[in-house]
Amino acid sequence: MLVLGVETSCDETAAAIVADGADVRSNVVASQLEHAAYGGVVPELAARKHVEALPWVVSAALSDAGVGWQEIDGIAVTRGPGLVGALLSGWCYARGLARALERPYVGIHHLAAHVHGALMSCLAAGEDVAYPLLALVVSGGHTSLYRLPALRQFALLGETRDDAAGEAFDKVAALLGLDYPGGPVIDRLSDRGNPMAVPLPRSKLSGPFDFSFSGLKTAVRRQALSTQLKPGEPDDPRVLDLVASFQAAVVDMLADTTAAALRAHPVRGLLVAGGVAANRALRSRMESLAQEHGLPLYLAPIDLSTDNAAMVAGWGEARLRAGGGDPFDLSVVATWPLGGGEAPF
Ligand code: KG4
Ligand code: ZN
Repeated sequence: MLVLGVETSCDETAAAIVADGADVRSNVVASQLEHAAYGGVVPELAARKHVEALPWVVSAALSDAGVGWQEIDGIAVTRGPGLVGALLSGWCYARGLARALERPYVGIHHLAAHVHGALMSCLAAGEDVAYPLLALVVSGGHTSLYRLPALRQFALLGETRDDAAGEAFDKVAALLGLDYPGGPVIDRLSDRGNPMAVPLPRSKLSGPFDFSFSGLKTAVRRQALSTQLKPGEPDDPRVLDLVASFQAAVVDMLADTTAAALRAHPVRGLLVAGGVAANRALRSRMESLAQEHGLPLYLAPIDLSTDNAAMVAGWGEARLRAGGGDPFDLSVVATWPLGGGEAPF
């Protein structure tokens, strides 16, 4: 089955063609660079830019895959969670297309799609995934640990009480006057700094699998002020040491909480998904953790870790194959907890 995926939950306009849930035939992502000037995503601007980009991004996904409009069997589009205006741009476009092509469409949960994205290369190789899994989902808007008892089932074990991990990367980069998005910049600059140079706190919370990054962010701000760092000096050795120390603290907090969850909840595999899963230090720490526990590690390749529509198309395929598609009177959902009830997502 050939599925067109459409993703516009934040600042990436993405479309992809995926065959049989895991075979990625094309994957087009247009990142909105306009937000860099504001140090963060401007929701209204994101929505307008999606409307402009969608026609050519979707056409490019079709032509890269060598697929004609009539060959698409169904459409999967992100329904939430995300920025309402941004979601609506992709949602209206995808539903209009579904109507015009007389094909079914399904609304997809963005985080469930990220989780599927981490399994896709394994599924494409015809390998089975053994459940239960422990999944760490780390993005710009979410940081959560889930236990997946079986395919399409999510039990929330813990989540962030304040900033998401990706948000912490972006805010620390902004306070140091570095480029947006901050995650990839800090990942790169950290290679040149000493991760032990600046002692930074690792927050511990009473919820054993919860996270908090706001104390760490404040500690970075204090250090920047007390050492009188000038904004926008990525080559200053003190900045390099500070970002490397910050990244090490984030990776420690994510890995230590994941390790505690592995001890409390025996599973048959560990999965890490979401934009921050592109971070090289986190990837290598999670590889060691999985190895220590004798578990397979499911990680998307770096380009499928950050937002894309291949994961959306892949995740939507099973629901489309089951038949029906979603009714046309559905709308998007800005806040959509994953892990409660049996909502179709
Ligand atoms: O999943 P994603 O693309 O969008 C959301 O669903 O939020 O995640 C984006 C987040 C941003 O905060 C970005 O800074 C972060 O992922 N990110 C990274 C890296 N690449 C992207 N964080 C750390 N290291 C990276 N290499
Ligand atoms: Zn995402």
